Amino acid sequence: MKTKHIIYISKAVAPFEKSELLDLEHQAQIKNKKLGITGMLCYVQSQFIQYLEGSAESVDYLMESISMDQRHTIIKRIQMSGIGNRLFEDWSLRYYAPDDLEAIFPNFLGFVLEYGGMATVLDTDMESLLVNNLRFIAAQAQ
Ligand SMILES: Cc1cc2nc3c(=O)[nH]c(=O)nc-3n(C[C@H](O)[C@H](O)[C@H](O)COP(=O)(O)O)c2cc1C
Repeated sequence: MKTKHIIYISKAVAPFEKSELLDLEHQAQIKNKKLGITGMLCYVQSQFIQYLEGSAESVDYLMESISMDQRHTIIKRIQMSGIGNRLFEDWSLRYYAPDDLEAIFPNFLGFVLEYGGMATVLDTDMESLLVNNLRFIAAQAQ
């Protein structure tokens, strides 16, 4: 089965408390497990960066629900084509505090957030850079 991969950036309508993030993480993990979705989520400066992978049907279904969520507004959605296998195979949703992500990969967040103002379809070089960065992060996930 072909895996679909998506990364998006969204802006929280109101800042999330730690407890709200924990609830979100917990509920998302349960539902993602049911849908066979894996991926990661990071919340930084009232913005979310989420990467999701799974069957096209499940990813589309979930993205529909996420994009209708009134707690945030999606500002950029990037669909990636050149990944192949899953990166976060063992993680229904790996949640990262920004500091954790910075410790694994300094500048990853800056790199992704910069795409807030860029094209939805990345050119091949940019896409492979983004994929390599995600692959590196996923490989350290524990
Ligand atoms: C930034 C953000 C990321 C989210 N990620 C997920 C996710 O990965 N999986 C999920 O099931 N819900 C996620 N949600 C919640 C969904 O938007 C939605 O509330 C949930 O899927 C509703 O599930 P229900 O209709 O089964 O109650 C996310 C919400 C936000 C704001």
